[in-house]
Amino acid sequence: MRARITGTGSYAPARIMTNADLEGLVATSDEWIRERTGIRERHIAATGEACSDLAVQAGKRALAAAGVAPADLDMILVATCTGDYPLPATACLVQYQLGATKAAACDLAAACCGFVYALSVADAYVRTGMKHVLVIGSEVMSAITDWTDRNTCVLFGDGAGAAVISASDGERGILSTHLRSDGALCDLIAVPAGGSRQPASEKVVGERLQYIKMKGNETFKVAVRSLEEIARETLAANQLTIDALDLYVPHQANMRILNAVSDRLGLPKEKIMLNLDRYGNTSAASIPIALDEAVRAGRVKDGSLVMLGAFGAGLTWASALIRW
Ligand code: ACO
Repeated sequence: MRARITGTGSYAPARIMTNADLEGLVATSDEWIRERTGIRERHIAATGEACSDLAVQAGKRALAAAGVAPADLDMILVATCTGDYPLPATACLVQYQLGATKAAACDLAAACCGFVYALSVADAYVRTGMKHVLVIGSEVMSAITDWTDRNTCVLFGDGAGAAVISASDGERGILSTHLRSDGALCDLIAVPAGGSRQPASEKVVGERLQYIKMKGNETFKVAVRSLEEIARETLAANQLTIDALDLYVPHQANMRILNAVSDRLGLPKEKIMLNLDRYGNTSAASIPIALDEAVRAGRVKDGSLVMLGAFGAGLTWASALIRW
C-alpha cells in the first residue's frame, strides 16, 4: 500500500503588495528586491482574514480535485507557524468549517518545512491504515512581519496550499520522505516573543519582539548546503540520479538560493517549479502552492517523478520523492 497525492489546491488572499508598495514603507527598491531575491509581489491577507480562512479555501479545492468528501477524511494536518490562536489548533477550525466529522485534527510546526514534514506524517498514517488525510500548509506571515524592518518585510507573503493523501495500490505515490533538523542554529530565524519564554507584554510590543527576525546571510549559506545534501540523500535512497527527475518543487525563499542549488545538483532550470516572483516566501504554504500550480499547469503528469525540497527555521530541512 502506498500513499498517493490524489488532489491539490491553493488559495491566496486578493490583495497584492508590489515591491513598489514596499518602497513607500522602508528604505528599499524594486531593483534590490528583484535582484537579491527574485520577488516582484506577494499576497497579503485582509484585516481579519486568518490562517484557517486561507486553509479552508485551499482544502476545499484539494478535496474537489481529489473527489473526496470532507466526511471521508481520517485526519487533517495544518502546517503553520502563524495559526489563528496559540490554542486551539488551527486544524480544528478547518475541520469544523469543512464538516470533516470523523477527522482527527492537529497542527504541525516546522516553519517552512511544515508541509513536507506533515506530508511524511500523512504518508506513515496512510500506509498503516488511514484512507484519506488532508495536509495543508497555511500562513499569514504578514501578521508576524515587522513592516519597519527592510531585512525581512520584503521577503514574506500570505497563502495556503493543500493536498489530499489517499491510500492506493500500485507503483504511484510517495516513494520516500527525508526529514532533518539542527536546533543549534535556532537563532538564525526566530520570533523571539509571544511564547512561554517571553509571553506577550507591553515591553515585548515596545521592542517589536513579536515579529520574525532573521540572519539572512548566514541562513542563505546553510540553505544552499542543506537543500543540496537532502536532494542527494533522497536520490541515493531511491537509487536514482538527478536526470531521472521530471520536476523539482522547492521552498520558494530566494531565487539565488535555488540557482545555486540547481547548479550544484546539475539540474536544468526548466525542471524547477518557480513562483516566488508572485508569492514571496509563504513558509509552509510555499511548496503546496507551487505544487498545485505545477499540477494545474500540466507540468506534473501521471508517472512524473517529482521531488519536493524544503528549508526553514529550526533549523529544519526536508524532502519527498513522489511518483505522480
Ligand atoms: N533593501 C535594500 N537593501 C537591503 C534590504 C532591502 N530590503 N535588506 C537588506 N539590505 C542591505 C543590508 O542592510 C546590507 O547593507 P550593508 O552592506 O550596508 O550592511 C546589504 O543589503 C546586503 O545585505 P545581506 O543580508 O548581506 O544581503 P543578502 O544578499 O544576503 O540578501 C536575503 C538578503 C535576501 C535576506 C538573503 O540573505 C536570503 O534570502 N536569505 C535566506 C532566507 C531564507 O531562506 N530563509 C529561510 C526560510 S524563512 C522561514 O523559515 C520562516
